[in-house]
Amino acid sequence: MIVLAVLLLVVVLTCVPYLVTIAFAQGPADASPIFGVTVPEGYKQWELIAPAEEAAPLDELRAVVGNRTAIDAYQDNKLPFPDGTILVKRAWKRKQSPEFASATIPGEATTVQVMVKDSKKYASTGGWGFGRFINGKPVDEAQHRTCFACHEARVKSRDYVFTRLAP
Ligand code: HEC
Repeated sequence: MIVLAVLLLVVVLTCVPYLVTIAFAQGPADASPIFGVTVPEGYKQWELIAPAEEAAPLDELRAVVGNRTAIDAYQDNKLPFPDGTILVKRAWKRKQSPEFASATIPGEATTVQVMVKDSKKYASTGGWGFGRFINGKPVDEAQHRTCFACHEARVKSRDYVFTRLAP
C-alpha cells in the first residue's frame, strides 16, 4: 500500500509542472478579460478590408484586416458573418513622412483590436468576442465593457461591424 501511495505521489508530482505549463501555454495573461480573445497568429499577413483614419486626439492611421472567412463573407456580401470570422484593426500614430511633405505614414503601433465571431460562445454580445491589446497585452476589463455597446448602438444592422470592404 505504502509503496503504491509513494509511487502515485511521485507520478502526480512529476505531472504537475507539465499540467501547469499546458494550462498557461494558451496564456490567460494574453487573453482579453470577459471574452478570452487572443491576438490571432499571422494577422500581419491577412488581407486588407479597408484603411481608416482617426482625427485628433488619437490621430491614428488604421487598417482593418480579416482572415479568409472574413474576406470571403465580405466578397459574398454575407451578413451575419459566419462563425470563425476574425477581424483585426491595426492602428498607428500618424506620422509626417521625413522624405515627402504631403505624405503621412504610420508611426509607432498603438493598439491591436480583435473581433471573433462565435455565435454560441458570445451569444450575449451579438456573437462577437472582443479584445484590445497594447504591446500584445490585453487592456483592462472596464475598456472591454465598452466594446459591444458602441458597436451595437451604431451598426447593429450590419452585424455590429463598421468597416465595409474598400472599393
Ligand atoms: C465609441 C465607439 C467604439 C467603441 C467603444 C469601440 N469601438 Fe470598435 N470601432 C468603432 C468604429 C467607429 C470602428 C470603425 C473603424 C474606425 O473608425 O477605426 C470600429 C472598428 C472596430 C473593429 C474593426 C471591425 C469593424 O467593426 O469595423 C474592431 C475589430 C473593433 N472595432 C474592436 C473593438 C474592441 C475590441 C473594442 C473594445 C475594447 C471596441 N472596438 C470599442 C467604434 C468603437
